[in-house]
Amino acid sequence: MATSTEPKAAGTQTGQRATLSITDNRTGKQYEVPVGNGTIRSIDLRQIKTSDDDFGLMTYDPAFMNTASCKSAITFIDGDKGILRYRGYPIDELAEKCSYLEVAYLVINGELPNKEQLADWTNNITTHTFVHENIKKFMDGFHHDAHPMGMFVSTVAALSTFYPTAKKIHDPEERKLTIYRLLGKVPTLAAFAYRHSMGMPYVHPDNELSYAGNFLGMMFKIAEPRYKPNQVLEKALDVLFILHADHEQNCSANAMRAVGSSHVDPYSATAAAAAALYGPLHGGANAEVLYMLDEVGTKDRVGAFIKDVKEGKGKLMGFGHRVYKNYDPRAKIIKHLADQVFEVTGRNPKLDIALELERIALEDEYFIKRKLYPNVDFYSGLIYQAMKFPVEMFPVLFAIGRMSGWLAQWQEMLLDGDQKIARPRQIYLGSDKREVTMLSQRK
Ligand code: ACO
Repeated sequence: MATSTEPKAAGTQTGQRATLSITDNRTGKQYEVPVGNGTIRSIDLRQIKTSDDDFGLMTYDPAFMNTASCKSAITFIDGDKGILRYRGYPIDELAEKCSYLEVAYLVINGELPNKEQLADWTNNITTHTFVHENIKKFMDGFHHDAHPMGMFVSTVAALSTFYPTAKKIHDPEERKLTIYRLLGKVPTLAAFAYRHSMGMPYVHPDNELSYAGNFLGMMFKIAEPRYKPNQVLEKALDVLFILHADHEQNCSANAMRAVGSSHVDPYSATAAAAAALYGPLHGGANAEVLYMLDEVGTKDRVGAFIKDVKEGKGKLMGFGHRVYKNYDPRAKIIKHLADQVFEVTGRNPKLDIALELERIALEDEYFIKRKLYPNVDFYSGLIYQAMKFPVEMFPVLFAIGRMSGWLAQWQEMLLDGDQKIARPRQIYLGSDKREVTMLSQRK
């Protein structure tokens, strides 16, 4: 089943009504609610009551397993068919034919830029790569072994104090400026977080370099007068940013929308989204793959490891996906990318273990039956490691690419007349009304 619903005509087959008939067996009453785009509106169930003082029927859906929280025109996923498209364009075509900044423009503005639009867009983002000098002092305050993602989350939040007018979220010009600033500054903050953790001086942005090239420079420049990125690695990083640009209503996009729906400034909402990404079930999974490969250790231990997984003694990290039940289209692109990167960096010795794990798993009934295939994280960590990124930086790299998606989701939410402050209902199962006992009398 597709997780994104493609727009459909209101009716279904000739003579059929696009409605759902409901009989409430508690009362015998019948209701008819409209069906549109494969959904019913939850609020239409509120009329279903057992008495006048009944609140009305709600749906219970922890983790939003079957609830569309918004209408969106940004990303389409069909998990069964292994399809991922941004604004209608297949991910593999975008990865092959476009740069990350073109894709960021597409994801945020809805169309691919023409030459002038791209030049303007690139210029605006590039001229916002520098951060206020006080950000450095702020960064210096972190402990020497602070996790780079913790530093990233905090410094993104701190940007709101440097740009207080960003809270004018209904002003399109102010939103545009914030988009330039965030896209421009997140690679700088990410690289500064890394340099701080290494005890190395911060490297200022080089605006002559590409988006990915400049980031590599701010990460790895030592004493050379001008950093020249390796073109294969620069391109590979750019593609990885494209692959991570958006993934519809995932945990961090949902955080961006939910927190943004309070009309807080976008830097604070982005910090919330980045915090969601920090978790091992979301942006932290690629690091888990590397820890797993370390645990397996050698190729000859793969069989025993798979046996343990099948006996429930652990998971094959980087395998399986909530949405993709055929293959993850991003994993296919990444595997190809890995070959190009390893030609430059030398083969990551863990690749042999990964390939053997994949080979055995894809032939094994356990994994076939459960539709478990390599996901985007199975190979991305190996590439990042070969490029000399420490494992702690993996979620930060994810955040740089995902920034465009967060901004697109945030802006779409603000402009959607259906949206209000996100505020779910609950099923209260706690105590009924009771009296407070004085402290002296409590047992
Ligand atoms: N290794 C072994 N068995 C697995 C794996 C795995 N990686 N993933 C799922 N299974 C098994 C489950 O044990 C379950 O088996 P059962 O039916 O016998 O109980 C069955 O497959 C279904 O699994 P669920 O957990 O119900 O699948 P769900 O859709 O909830 O989980 C998830 C998806 C979280 C990605 C899961 O496959 C997993 O934990 N994978 C490893 C972690 C990982 O790689 N995460 C990255 C996801 S990509 C991203 O977020 C960018």
